[in-house]
Amino acid sequence: MKNIRAIYPGSFDPLTNGHLDLIERGSKIFDELIVAILCNAEKDAPLFSVAERMDMLEEMVRRYGNVQVDTFDGLLVDYAQRKDAKAVLRGIRAISDYEYELRMALLNRKLAPQIETVFMMPAEAYSYVSSRLVKEVCQLGGSVRDLVPDLVEQRLLEKINGTAKPRG
Ligand code: PNS
Repeated sequence: MKNIRAIYPGSFDPLTNGHLDLIERGSKIFDELIVAILCNAEKDAPLFSVAERMDMLEEMVRRYGNVQVDTFDGLLVDYAQRKDAKAVLRGIRAISDYEYELRMALLNRKLAPQIETVFMMPAEAYSYVSSRLVKEVCQLGGSVRDLVPDLVEQRLLEKINGTAKPRG
């Protein structure tokens, strides 16, 4: 019997219902799934610290017996190999995601041919949900209910209203 461990990498700043949908799908087809938060993102300054993102993710994946949360920096394929993972899971919401995801998957394959990228589609209801838009809507006073878990909505409001408690 094969025991397939997969990595679901991302920034998760913050976790959305689209991410959770993918985690649930991934947990059903892989024996083990590691949700891996990228630490050294050179993108715009994150809203949530890595510790805050980890805290929210851990809370939300507690219900799945085969899902763990971790952090990584450096190359994804190096991390995947250290974890002895055979697959990388990524979500594709719309055709606009495809080009970036294809380039990343092919470059990762060039670096580490033994690791397969597996694409899954989140439920249609989340096809337009992204962390970036969620942050923007919330910062401008719009409701993000149904787009993120309640816990994330609460932490977003705390952060934006300046009432967040320090967590890690
Ligand atoms: O959720 P995101 O921000 O789109 O995730 C992007 C992520 C973390 C998967 C990607 O930036 C990544 O793997 N970074 C690690 C560095 C790396 O391996 N870069 C080469 C990828 S081709």
